Amino acid sequence: MAEVLTQEHVGAARSLGHVALHYNAPHEGPLAARLLAMFGFNETQKLLLENGTTFYRFVVDDRHHARGDGILYLSALPDAQRKLLEATGAALKVGTAEEHPAVAELRHQYDQDPEYGFHVGFLVESLEELETRFQALEEANRSDPDLKGRLRITYNRARKGDADVDARLDASPIYGDVDRYAYGRNGVQAFVETDIFSSGPLGQSMFFEFDYVFPDKASHVLSVVEQD
Ligand SMILES: [Fe+2]
Repeated sequence: MAEVLTQEHVGAARSLGHVALHYNAPHEGPLAARLLAMFGFNETQKLLLENGTTFYRFVVDDRHHARGDGILYLSALPDAQRKLLEATGAALKVGTAEEHPAVAELRHQYDQDPEYGFHVGFLVESLEELETRFQALEEANRSDPDLKGRLRITYNRARKGDADVDARLDASPIYGDVDRYAYGRNGVQAFVETDIFSSGPLGQSMFFEFDYVFPDKASHVLSVVEQD
């Protein structure tokens, strides 16, 4: 039987090492890196490659700087992958009047639920930090010359039932008016979809998820998934 991890064991636990991210447009490496910095990640390395694009290493928290985990690698979408995505888009007539209906169906599902497809989630230790960062992202999506209209932001509140959590979220500058709910209690989610990054079957965008879990809750959205 597998050993149950306790707090004392966590320092030696296996962990998620890294995720390799790709930006769509070869010239948008600096913009992709700026967005990762706005998410709160720390750039630790930047290399200009021979093909003119830039490779970056980020860590999700500075305490990962010298470690082998908590890493995000960022590079331009590789040429062969770009060619395949372009061929796929052409074959499915994406964006034209004859577009294959499967394309719209997938888009519809993404619009209903940002967790529908591939995405990466990050745990944030402070709800105030999450609120501040997302207010800045909302503002950038309204007015930043390079980011305007390129961020699609969605919020999920914690399922109702804990009076303190509900009151805190009612007073939140980003969650107060939200009527979408997470798949569980005592935690919130914030999503950013952006076409600056490539992922998914058509490579058109990527979803980033940021979560906060209220402290001292035995059960929360990231420990137990709940259905309706
Ligand atoms: Fe998720």
